[in-house]
Amino acid sequence: MLRFIAFLAIAVVSVSAKEPSQTPEAGAKFVGAVGCRSSSCHGGAGEKRSQYITWSQKDFHTRAYAILLDARSARIGEAVGVSQPQSSARCTVCHSPFQPVAPSRLTSSARPDEGVSCESCHGAAESWLRGHTRSDWTYATRVAAGMHDLRNLYVRANACVACHQNVDADILKAGHPELVFELDSQSVNEPKHWRDEDPASGPRSWLTGQAIALREITWALIKSPPDERSQLLDQENALVWLLDKTGFGNDLTKFSAFPGVQQSADEIAERAAKWSPTSDSLMAILQTLAASDSEFRSSNISRQNVFYRALRLTLALERLALALDLSPKIEKELSALRSDVQRHYDFDVAAFAEHLRALRTKL
Ligand code: HEC
Ligand code: HEC
Ligand code: HEC
Repeated sequence: MLRFIAFLAIAVVSVSAKEPSQTPEAGAKFVGAVGCRSSSCHGGAGEKRSQYITWSQKDFHTRAYAILLDARSARIGEAVGVSQPQSSARCTVCHSPFQPVAPSRLTSSARPDEGVSCESCHGAAESWLRGHTRSDWTYATRVAAGMHDLRNLYVRANACVACHQNVDADILKAGHPELVFELDSQSVNEPKHWRDEDPASGPRSWLTGQAIALREITWALIKSPPDERSQLLDQENALVWLLDKTGFGNDLTKFSAFPGVQQSADEIAERAAKWSPTSDSLMAILQTLAASDSEFRSSNISRQNVFYRALRLTLALERLALALDLSPKIEKELSALRSDVQRHYDFDVAAFAEHLRALRTKL
């Protein structure tokens, strides 16, 4: 099995076609968020101990299960032949990840309705729950005991993307929101319950996440029947186009077969996770990207393909501008681009090209 699939149990979930696979029977048990909640652990006051509070009060993931009980989920479920979204593995793999887990790996305190909780990202805690508070345990000891190494952005991107990029075509058609993975903004929006003082972590997360998204889309392409590939192909092409412009995609365009792209995207992600960009290098990328307005004006590729390029480009401009403290200066232009890429069906290429030109001249 490919190296990057092997080390995260949760990533197994994202390969699933119609019948999602279970988290393997072997492995540590999940204890549930309640195991992390006490005030002397992660449920206390102050920045160092407040992760449970941040998660339980502000994090989108606590709602992931409840959403499956609402009318929109019922409609999506009906369209794909799922009568109870809240207990179907087709939905719970992402919305209630304890449910598809083999019962032998759940302790009695792990509740299916807690949505996406601590261990969905940090890994099943049984093997490190007691040990991880010991003063003689370093971060490396915890990771060796089975806690996911989320400080490593490559590992982090793999954890998030398992639920944030690919969703089966029939579920999408039934009205499920389209998933567009972008690690930097999604980490900010979660919101973060961790300290992050490195100014380069934003663009580094962005680039790592885009390469991982490309790998996942390519993976989905390999598995899908040729007549269901059109949208995925356009999404893939958009990311190849974007990464090529960053200077990281050097050999992506040479591949004529998916496995080459998949492997190369994975390697780009590993390199990107260690990237230490200077402001000059970020500015150079921002300018190259902004200078693509003429490509949008004279493009002869499909509308859907142009749309995905515009979408990925807008996310890129936003993240780079933020890292360079340029957001206030180009906020008006960015917000025009953002609203241009809201929806497929009324996407106006000419307007997008014009807004991009306006942004380029302001830089
Ligand atoms: C691959 C993971 C995955 C699967 C499988 C999945 N979802 Fe989702 N779902 C998500 C993510 C991630 C979001 C958040 C998307 C966003 O807001 O950008 C979401 C959002 C939703 C929303 C919108 C929630 C809101 O706040 O607007 C509904 C409703 C929903 N899912 C229902 C379902 C149903 C029903 C199923 C099964 C038929 C399902 N999902 C399967 C990952 C998944
Ligand atoms: C959606 C994924 C996700 C969920 C859910 C989640 N975390 Fe995290 N957590 C992260 C990421 C990413 C980091 C940053 C990497 C790191 O510092 O280890 C992090 C960091 C942390 C840290 C280190 C804080 C710091 O400043 O160094 C603690 C402690 C933590 N999480 C505890 C929890 C607890 C407790 C829960 C449940 C109440 C939880 N996490 C839920 C993803 C998640
Ligand atoms: C086990 C699946 C799963 C994992 C792992 C996961 N998420 Fe989510 N995430 C979801 C689902 C399901 C939703 C939809 C919940 C909702 O809309 O309230 C969601 C919603 C979100 C949202 C709000 C909607 C949006 O897209 O803006 C953010 C932000 C987010 N996740 C960030 C992250 C980040 C960052 C990570 C990794 C550190 C991560 N998620 C890992 C399943 C997951």
